[in-house]
Amino acid sequence: MDGNGRWARERGLPRVMGHKAGARTVQKTVRVAREMGLAVLTLYAFSTENWHRPLQEVDTLMGLLKTYLQSELDKLLQQDIRLCCLGEMSKLPGDVREVLEKVITRTAGARGMTLNLALSYGSRNELVRAMQRLASRCVAGEMVPLDITDEMVSQQLDTAGQPDPDLIIRTGGECRLSNFLLWQASYAEIYITETMWPDFSKKAFYEAVHNFQQRQRRFGRTGEQASTGLPTT
Ligand code: IPE
Ligand code: MG
Repeated sequence: MDGNGRWARERGLPRVMGHKAGARTVQKTVRVAREMGLAVLTLYAFSTENWHRPLQEVDTLMGLLKTYLQSELDKLLQQDIRLCCLGEMSKLPGDVREVLEKVITRTAGARGMTLNLALSYGSRNELVRAMQRLASRCVAGEMVPLDITDEMVSQQLDTAGQPDPDLIIRTGGECRLSNFLLWQASYAEIYITETMWPDFSKKAFYEAVHNFQQRQRRFGRTGEQASTGLPTT
């Protein structure tokens, strides 16, 4: 969800206005994802690196997050959407964490779609936490290092129990993953658009999905194998 700052600058507005416009795009995008029938939508809202932004901008983003969570609870319930959080929730300010935990608890039974908000999220941090837990289990004698499998690593991540992403959309034109779902993105299709996040519309979302649908996913096999429908994993 990149490009809020540039969107504002192009209009001669302060960055905060870009973030406000970006929050409205979040509401629209969640609705569109639900209409599309997606199982999981993950929004990379705030990274571990974003803490290094100017304090005032961090405060603004935390304030917007709190407002968003407060205003969305009913809408999430109506749309049968479950909210989950990826990242270190404990790093968030207490008031934000409180409302976040409330929305997570209240929507826990929803089954229509999972909405992951990546907050204070960094893939390296997530992997380090996973490794620490696996190492602790080895030290405790519950298992040995050679027992560790792909599945066990996946189960230690914040996305445990969820499918890997099929499509990653990055707005704002930069060609990098910026510490996002590095493990889970192994075979994700990546779509980069120059559109700034506040301008990311329903049409732009459908274009990204359409582009994804044109691609042949080979998962390391040959094109012939993939097109004859052999198991792909
Ligand atoms: C993304 O927009 C929003 C967050 C990181 C929360 P940016 O703020 O990174 O926008 P640009 O990259 O400056 O345009
Ligand atoms: Mg940016």
